[in-house]
Amino acid sequence: MTMTHQLPQIVLDAFESWSVLAESGERLPLDSNVSLVEALALHRAVKENYFQSTAEVGLAKGISATAIVSAIAGHPGALHHVMDPYQTKYGNAGLRMLRDSGLGPYFRHYSQYSIRGRGVSFASATRFCFH
Ligand SMILES: C[S@@+](CC[C@H](N)C(=O)[O-])C[C@H]1O[C@@H](n2cnc3c(N)ncnc32)[C@H](O)[C@@H]1O
Repeated sequence: MTMTHQLPQIVLDAFESWSVLAESGERLPLDSNVSLVEALALHRAVKENYFQSTAEVGLAKGISATAIVSAIAGHPGALHHVMDPYQTKYGNAGLRMLRDSGLGPYFRHYSQYSIRGRGVSFASATRFCFH
């Protein structure tokens, strides 16, 4: 039993169509993302451990981020921090996926290289449960 229904429909649709929407409305093919099984594993690891403050390097088209954010959504103060300076190269598809999923309030994107983003986030004494 895969239990993929635990993932947001927008993620399942992306794997079904093997595509996502860019900010412009253009449909872009999936590439460089985690697999459906891996997305489910990320979602479950975050949910089952009650993680609420998470960080990730690399947004791309938003697959893994949406899987993670959907696991923290609903908890007051929960936030998934994602560093990626190259979102425009992906047509801002990751940002659109998070917005279209309705999970935007639980997600923050930093247009910074990971090394700089880590510096900013850790210097501000954010404690991450999972990254
Ligand atoms: C393999 S993709 C991530 C896919 C994503 N985990 C998923 O499954 O949907 C790698 C991402 O890392 C980003 N990236 C590359 N170098 C980076 C850096 N120095 N800091 C932050 N992000 C970086 C790229 O722009 C790209 O979006």
